[in-house]
Amino acid sequence: MSKVALVTGAKGGIGSSITQALVDAGFRVVATYYPTGEKAAQEWFAANNYSSESVRLFPLDVTDTNYCQEALATLLQEEGHIDVLVNNAGITKDTTFKRMTAEQWNAVINTNLNSLFNVTQPLFDSMCKKGNARIINITSVNGLKGQFGQANYSAAKAGMIGFTKALAAEGARSGVTVNAVAPGYTGTPMVEAIKPEVLDSIKAEIPMRRLALPQEVAAAVTFLASDAAAYITGETLSVNGGLYMH
Ligand code: CAA
Repeated sequence: MSKVALVTGAKGGIGSSITQALVDAGFRVVATYYPTGEKAAQEWFAANNYSSESVRLFPLDVTDTNYCQEALATLLQEEGHIDVLVNNAGITKDTTFKRMTAEQWNAVINTNLNSLFNVTQPLFDSMCKKGNARIINITSVNGLKGQFGQANYSAAKAGMIGFTKALAAEGARSGVTVNAVAPGYTGTPMVEAIKPEVLDSIKAEIPMRRLALPQEVAAAVTFLASDAAAYITGETLSVNGGLYMH
C-alpha cells in the first residue's frame, strides 16, 4: 500500500516540484489546487503524464475553514490515511507597510497562515492515531529575516514557524514529526514577478549568486518526509544559498 502525501498548492511554483519528487519517491500524492483553477490543474496533470494512482487532483480553498473540514473528512475516508501533509499553498501581496491595505494584509495571513489551521486540524488526529506521519510547512527566508515590502508575508511565514514548533511538541509522542522548510528566492513565477532591478539587487545579496531551483527545495521536503528523518521534529531547514544563516 502506497504512502499518501497531501500537497497544498500543488500546481505551480515549488508545489509542482514537491509533487514530482514525492511521486518519484513512491508516494501517492493528493495534489490540491484552488477550485477555480480546475482546467489548469488538469492540463498540468496531463502534461506530466500522471496516472490517477500516482496523483489525485483535489480542489481545496485553503482559506475556507468549513469547506476544508468537510472536504478533508471525506478525503480521509476515501484514502484511508494521510501519511504526509505538505502545507505549501501561499501568496504574496508585496507593498510597503505604509501603503498596505487591510485586504492585502488579510489575504496573505488567510492563505499563508490561517490555512495551517484549516488544512492541518481535520487531519492531525488521524495522523496521530496512525503514527509515523509527517507534517512539513513551507515557510520562507523572509519569515526568518523579515523583508522590506513584506510585512504581511513575513508575519505569516514567521507564524508558520511558531506553529511548527508547537505542533511538533504535540505530535512527538505519536511519532508525528512537524518541520518547516524555509526556501530562499526560488525560480518560480512568484519571484519572477519581482521588478527586474529589485530582483537583481536581491540576487547580488545571495552568497551563491543564483536563485534556488524548485527541485532543490523539493529535495529537502522529500528528505523530511522520509523514514530517515523520523527523529527530526520542530526544525526549520533553510534552502537559501547562504542568504540568511541563523
Ligand atoms: N531595504 C531598504 N530600503 C529599500 C529596500 C530594502 N530592501 N527595498 C527598497 N527600498 C527603498 C528603495 O530604495 C526606495 O527608496 P527611495 O524612495 O529613496 O528611492 C523605496 O524603498 C521604495 O522602493 P521601490 O521603488 O521598490 O518601491 P515600490 O513601491 O515601487 O515597490 C516593493 C515596493 C513592491 C515592496 C518592491 O520594493 C519589491 O518588490 N521589493 C521586493 C519584495 C520581495 O523581496 N518580495 C519577495 C517576493 S518572492 C517571495 O516572497 C518568495 C520567498 O519566500 C522568498
